[in-house]
Amino acid sequence: MIKVVFLGFGNVNSHLCRAMAESEQVSVMQVFNRTAMQLPKTLQAIPFTTQLSEIKEADVYILGIPDDAIESFSATLPLRDQLIVHTSGGVAMDALSNQNRMGVLYPLQTFSKQRTIALDKVPICIEASAPEDLGLLRQLGSTISEIVVEISSEERAKLHVSAVFVNNFVNYLYTVSEELLAKNHLNFELLKPLILETAHKIETLSPSEAQTGPAKRNDRKTIEKHVHLLKDSPYKELYTQLTQAIETTYGKKL
Ligand SMILES: NC(=O)c1ccc[n+]([C@@H]2O[C@H](COP(=O)([O-])OP(=O)(O)OC[C@H]3O[C@@H](n4cnc5c(N)ncnc54)[C@H](OP(=O)(O)O)[C@@H]3O)[C@@H](O)[C@H]2O)c1
Repeated sequence: MIKVVFLGFGNVNSHLCRAMAESEQVSVMQVFNRTAMQLPKTLQAIPFTTQLSEIKEADVYILGIPDDAIESFSATLPLRDQLIVHTSGGVAMDALSNQNRMGVLYPLQTFSKQRTIALDKVPICIEASAPEDLGLLRQLGSTISEIVVEISSEERAKLHVSAVFVNNFVNYLYTVSEELLAKNHLNFELLKPLILETAHKIETLSPSEAQTGPAKRNDRKTIEKHVHLLKDSPYKELYTQLTQAIETTYGKKL
């Protein structure tokens, strides 16, 4: 049985906690959060504290707090020689205080507290300062996912850049589209089948094979029409830059 304490209960830790609490190989000993809060109904049997001095003993402490708070918060923990892991894609393992053993358990997925998602196909990227801890994290990761991979801090930073492109940037473009449609009294719902098919396509085609659209076809007439339609929009520059990027990529390959 792996004993786990969650430090912070935001988007990521709430999902990890729910999944680990369901595993027979994990015992969730406690949730710590600096602010008092109520755990979800299904997790209310788990002890909760807001006091650093009351943090219980565990095999692994999972720190799920914003990136910029990891370093300072880990230094305030009244623990010594324990395994503390953070869950960040973009923060190096050694940002954690060296008063404890360091590790990372980064679930490569987008999490929001209000959405429940299955974790079993989510890659869990692990790293540890000690080889025996790596084994423990592999075991812990396997209780919630079929995919557990060892990834160094340097590799994870690069992986995170790509994750930002495919998730954060793409999602931002949804926001742009929604705003443009709303200005013209059109419903974003109309785009949802296209969004879903675009995502599903890359299960069988490479992103490069799946690319379509006026920029890839070098269809100048359509591009000029779009730029004209966006002439007063703050997104005209973004459209032009993305079009140029696609043209450069496919132009090079011609
Ligand atoms: N969200 C994602 O999609 C995602 C995906 C993969 C990895 N990650 C990584 O997972 C980590 C957590 O992300 P998240 O989205 O779960 O964060 P989040 O929801 O914003 O985290 C909120 C939690 O952090 C605590 N917190 C905030 N500032 C703190 C501070 N200065 N000291 C102590 N606790 C503090 C909050 O406590 P209070 O309730 O007291 O404010 C709350 O428990 C980050 O490293 C992030 O990069 C996020």
